[in-house]
Amino acid sequence: MVLRMGFKQLMIRSYDRRVDRARVEDLERRCEVGPTERVFLFTDTLGDPICRIRNSPMYKMLVAELDNELVGVIQGSIKVVTMNKPPKNRAKVGYILGLRVAPHQRRKGIGSSLVRELEKWFTANEVDYSYMATEKDNEASVRLFVEHFGYNKFRTPAILVNPVQNRPSHISSTVEMAKLKVEDAESLYRKFMSSTEFFPHDIDKILRNKLSLGTWVAYPRGETWDNTKVPTSWAMLSVWNTGELFKLWLGKAPLSCLLFTKSSRVIRRFFPCFKLIPSLPDLFKRFGFYFMYGVHGEGPLAGKMVRTLCQSVHNMAVESKDCKIIVTEVGGQDEVRHHIPHWKRLSCPEDLWCIKALRTEGECFLYEYLTKTPPENKALFVDPREV
Ligand SMILES: CC(C)(COP(=O)(O)OP(=O)(O)OC[C@H]1O[C@@H](n2cnc3c(N)ncnc32)[C@H](O)[C@@H]1OP(=O)(O)O)[C@@H](O)C(=O)NCCC(=O)NCCS
Repeated sequence: MVLRMGFKQLMIRSYDRRVDRARVEDLERRCEVGPTERVFLFTDTLGDPICRIRNSPMYKMLVAELDNELVGVIQGSIKVVTMNKPPKNRAKVGYILGLRVAPHQRRKGIGSSLVRELEKWFTANEVDYSYMATEKDNEASVRLFVEHFGYNKFRTPAILVNPVQNRPSHISSTVEMAKLKVEDAESLYRKFMSSTEFFPHDIDKILRNKLSLGTWVAYPRGETWDNTKVPTSWAMLSVWNTGELFKLWLGKAPLSCLLFTKSSRVIRRFFPCFKLIPSLPDLFKRFGFYFMYGVHGEGPLAGKMVRTLCQSVHNMAVESKDCKIIVTEVGGQDEVRHHIPHWKRLSCPEDLWCIKALRTEGECFLYEYLTKTPPENKALFVDPREV
């Protein structure tokens, strides 16, 4: 798509790795600031700026060029989620991420043009709802999506971050844990979590992805785990190894010496807190992080089961050497958050999710339900492919 901007031409087209890779990385770098003038959080996307969305069923990255200068970028992915809200139990959703415009070209309509083109791609692929996540206090982004494009603020999940310590955590001897086969994990998720908001219809693909390290359950010792009948109290979670996609590190080197793209949405949220914690020396070396997803517990001891599973993931991370941080994102009011170990100073209590119906028949009660119902204790399934 070509637009006239004064005497110049703005072209919006699909990302082409051969000509755009280095320019996208450079743009990402120019859009970021560090916690101090010389300390930055670097991300190495291992030569693939589109790596965050590559694991989604459908994805697209668009770039904006103004007279051959790359001035903007946006990414989007499409998937089907189950909603269990008759008459429509499934919805096709498009997720918007990674919108960046070069600082000297802002407020000229480039960000809006990128969003409009991505929404066209969503519509051409019969997407019902488009959604995005941002920091609550990112005024430019909130105004662009909410005021300019009519998105509705609808959920405020919490991002919880726990640094990996040198020593393993103590695991309670009264809790039994087991790793599930992928088929069993899939049926357990479909049985107990498919009514969770934004539950991905292709959960099997996520669980089978090479980045998924596995799914574990915990239950009181003395009881038995049987796929046909769950114990009185139990919990489950799965782990996604983001370190295989990109590496992070804190660095002080001059910008010109390093390539970096701060590409993770989650990292973007907790990054400013690093300046408050000077005593995290390991973060100056390259590291990866684990993302825990599908955290769910039932029964009177569910909290203890969740906590034990998290401690066990921590111990896995201690052994991995590469993983220095464990991250999860859960519904803002979800009870489970109280049982997930995390450092308050590194975590973000309120991420902001916004949604918009793209098809007129999509303006159904599901949309009403999502935007008008208060989140209360609702659990939210945060797809690890969108971290
Ligand atoms: C957010 C961002 C992409 C906007 O790009 P842009 O090209 O400047 O956006 P547009 O010119 O299309 O702005 C459209 C509308 O958004 C709102 N907006 C954009 N920037 C704004 C700002 N700094 N403050 C307040 N409102 C702003 C305005 O309503 C604006 O309309 P107006 O200029 O007629 O008032 C850009 O500021 C950016 O790259 N920020 C850093 C990265 C980021 O935060 N990305 C969003 C992550 S979801």
